[in-house]
Amino acid sequence: MERLKIKSLLENSAGIQLGSEITVKGWVRAFRSNRFVQINDGSCLASLQAVVDFEKFDDALLKRITTAACVSLSGTLIASHGAGQAVELQVTSIELIGDAHPDDIQKTVMQPKRHSLEFLREQAHLRFRTNTFGAVFRIRHAVSFAIHKFFNDRGFFNLHTPIITGSDAEGAGEMFHVSTLDPKNPPLNEDGTINYKEDFFGKQVNLTVSGQLEAELAALALGQVYTFGPTFRAENSNTSRHLAEFWMIEPEVAFNDLQDNMDLTEAFLKYLCSYVMENCKEDLTFLSERDAQDQQQKPQQERAEMSLIERMKFVIENPFKRLTYTEAIEVLLNSNHYKKKKFNYPVEWGIDLQSEHERYLVEKEFKCPVILTDYPAKIKAFYMRMNDDGKTVAAMDVLFPGIGEIVGGSQREERYEMLHQKCVEFGIDPEELSWYMETRKFGTAPHAGFGLGFERMIMFVTGMTNIRDVIPFPRTPQNAAF
Ligand code: 4AD
Ligand code: MG
Repeated sequence: MERLKIKSLLENSAGIQLGSEITVKGWVRAFRSNRFVQINDGSCLASLQAVVDFEKFDDALLKRITTAACVSLSGTLIASHGAGQAVELQVTSIELIGDAHPDDIQKTVMQPKRHSLEFLREQAHLRFRTNTFGAVFRIRHAVSFAIHKFFNDRGFFNLHTPIITGSDAEGAGEMFHVSTLDPKNPPLNEDGTINYKEDFFGKQVNLTVSGQLEAELAALALGQVYTFGPTFRAENSNTSRHLAEFWMIEPEVAFNDLQDNMDLTEAFLKYLCSYVMENCKEDLTFLSERDAQDQQQKPQQERAEMSLIERMKFVIENPFKRLTYTEAIEVLLNSNHYKKKKFNYPVEWGIDLQSEHERYLVEKEFKCPVILTDYPAKIKAFYMRMNDDGKTVAAMDVLFPGIGEIVGGSQREERYEMLHQKCVEFGIDPEELSWYMETRKFGTAPHAGFGLGFERMIMFVTGMTNIRDVIPFPRTPQNAAF
């Protein structure tokens, strides 16, 4: 018999009549009173209740229907006697596909009770089987799909930018090097440095920190493009918001200025929240309740004032607060928080804002998403467009409640001379970047773009507070176990 997905049965999207003979396959979540099997196939959060008449089955077989075992159940679809679901399965035949031994389960996250996220992280290979991670990864998929839909509907082209590259787009030097040289015995130059001319690519290369520079070239031909790819940063920051391998979405649009860029970002982030609200109701409700329970555990002053669903509605319904970096510094300096010396880091014009400053602006001062613009040129990347004041650049960072920076972007420096000068000032060899600089010589145009950290977005829409819990296999310093 053809296998049916539990999601389509429960939503009745397959149009199955009561009394039909059906088959479902999945993993046992619970087997109560030797009679009620909760079976989950991952298609949705809910499990299907299957009723087994134990007198009709062999004892030896029933014993093997344990939590986590994989089974195929066939039978008749009937109206449910219990509350909760409309239908259940009256089982007529059971096929055991894969055993799970109760002794083994004891030590794993599949034991049916609530586990700490830390414990779940230690078993990243098994945590997919839990309600929480099932919900998180179904939502992750939905957001990924929504991103492609958003851009496709607006006539953007998806661009695949290289993963191995010779450039350090962000100029931060936090790169993973890629080499096939023998680390124990590399070829050396006369001065004792490694001779990368003998390496695979004949030069030093690394894993990409951003696809932006490549995307700019494409935008200046195709008009509007976006990348959606893995991004690697060897920054040694062991925080709940940093990964060494994360996914980034980078749209790039010819003829857009900073205002257009902000409008696009805001529309994009609102769209993604709406998409999840409309398409992931069951998982979102589950995670919202989970988040509410978590909030209860926290000390009063750390609790989010709104539930997960309310936080998303808030983002959808309210305009983001837009202000310049210079204005933000004023706000911080005038705050009671500052006057009472509650910030750990100093506040003055020119500093790189710390996460405590960003969180103050978003969570205490404005209580809504904030877009900060026009940062000091010195603390931002070389490619950002210099403003007329000669001190600030047309940069923008979007700050979200509970997350901090979720988007970083800018209008790009499209003037060749200015870009050349910036390279020199930032110690970047313009020759090395000639492939990028050239575009400014052949029909240059104003253009702008931004990068959304995919995992930070997933944190926001799932309410998960550690970035390691929104990517299937997190890579962080000292950790690539799975
Ligand atoms: O602000 P960033 O460094 O900007 C860029 O890379 C630009 N090239 C984007 C552009 O204009 N096309 O990174 C963009 C976003 C951040 O706002 C953050 O959400 C995310 O990427 N991000 C990280 N996410 C997880 N782990 C890390 N280590 C991250 N570093 C940045
Ligand atoms: Mg940034």
